[in-house]
Amino acid sequence: MSAPAWEMLDDIPSNSPIWKQWQKLVNDENWTSDCSATTGLTPTLSTTRSVWAVDKKDSSYIGCVVWNEYDSIALIGFYLLTPAYRKLGIGSKLWKRAIERIPKDYTIALRSVPVMIPRYSSQTTPVRGPTLHYCTVKASEAVELCNKLLPADFESGYSTKKLEELSHEEWEEFLKFDRKITGKDRREWLTAYRSHEHKFAIVVFSKNDHSIVCYASTVMTSHLHQHRYKIAPIYAIDDSLGVFSLRILANWIGSQYPDATIYCHLMEGTRGFEFLKPKLEQITSVTISGTSLFSKPYNNPLDLSKVYFPNNSSGHYDI
Ligand SMILES: CC(C)(COP(=O)(O)OP(=O)(O)OC[C@H]1O[C@@H](n2cnc3c(N)ncnc32)[C@H](O)[C@@H]1OP(=O)(O)O)[C@@H](O)C(=O)NCCC(=O)NCCS
Repeated sequence: MSAPAWEMLDDIPSNSPIWKQWQKLVNDENWTSDCSATTGLTPTLSTTRSVWAVDKKDSSYIGCVVWNEYDSIALIGFYLLTPAYRKLGIGSKLWKRAIERIPKDYTIALRSVPVMIPRYSSQTTPVRGPTLHYCTVKASEAVELCNKLLPADFESGYSTKKLEELSHEEWEEFLKFDRKITGKDRREWLTAYRSHEHKFAIVVFSKNDHSIVCYASTVMTSHLHQHRYKIAPIYAIDDSLGVFSLRILANWIGSQYPDATIYCHLMEGTRGFEFLKPKLEQITSVTISGTSLFSKPYNNPLDLSKVYFPNNSSGHYDI
C-alpha cells in the first residue's frame, strides 16, 4: 500500500474525535498497561503533548506520538499507527517532530515492547532501565492466594476509605503519602483519577494514629466489555498491607464480574517483584511486557521498597 495524502498536527484539542479513534486503537492493540484512566485522562492533562498524522481527506486518525512532560521528564506513552499505514515511513516523521519539540534538557523515557528495544536503543533512548513483567489471575484465585498469605483477622488494626470519600484533610495527607513514595507531585493526575468512573481505589489507615499506610487501586483496561482490571498501584508500608489491599481489590473485582481477568504488572527492583512474583508464579505464568528506556541515566526518586504494583501510567509516571 502507498501512503495516503496526510498531514501532521501538533497538540489537538481534548474534545477532538481523533482522541476517540486513538483510544480504540490502543484497546485493539491489547496494551493492558494502558488502562481506561490513562487513555481517558491523557487528552485533558496539562502535561500532555502530541504529534498526529491525519488523513487529508477526512481528518481521520493515521498515527501519533503522545507524551507527557513533567519534572524534566518527557515520557513517551504512545507511538502508534493504524495497521494499514505502518512501514510507510510515517511513524519516523512523527517521531522526528516529537523529539524536536521535547526540551533538550529533559530526559526522554519510554517503555518499549521487546521487538522495538534494539531500534529505540540505537537512536533516542540508549540507556536501559528495569523490565516490566505481567501475569493474569481470576479474582477468586487472587483472593485464595492472599488468604494463604494473611490471617483473616488481619484487618482489625486498620480501616479503609474509598479515594473519593476522603475528607479534605485526609486527601491532603494522602497526597503527601503518595509524594513520599513516588518522589513526585502527582496532584493533577490523582485529582483527575479520583473521579474516574472505571476504577476502585482505597486508602488504608492505621487505627492507632489514623496515619495512611497503603494506597491501592484497580482500574479497567482494554475494551470495557472484556472485563479486564489492572492493579495500579499498590503502595504499602509492608508486605502484609500489600497482600491485604490486594485481597480487598480482588474481592471487589469478583463482586463486579466473577469472570473478570486481573492484570498484575510487576516491575523489576520493586518489593512487589521480589515478594509477590514468586507467589504469583505458583498459580500462573509471568511474562515480559516491556522495558523502560531512557535518553540519559535517570535516577528515579520512587521508593521501590513500598511499591507492590506500580501505577504504571504515562499520565503521571512512577516507574
Ligand atoms: C512502531 C510504529 C509506530 C512505527 O511506525 P511506522 O510508520 O511503521 O515506521 P516507519 O515506516 O517510519 O519505520 C521504518 C523503520 O524504522 C523503524 N523505526 C520507526 N520509528 C522508530 C523509532 N522511533 N526509533 C527507532 N526505529 C524506528 C521501524 O521499526 C522500521 O524499521 P524496520 O523496517 O527495520 O522494521 C508502527 O509500526 C506501529 O504502530 N507499530 C505497532 C505499535 C508499536 O509497536 N508501537 C511501539 C510501542 S513501544
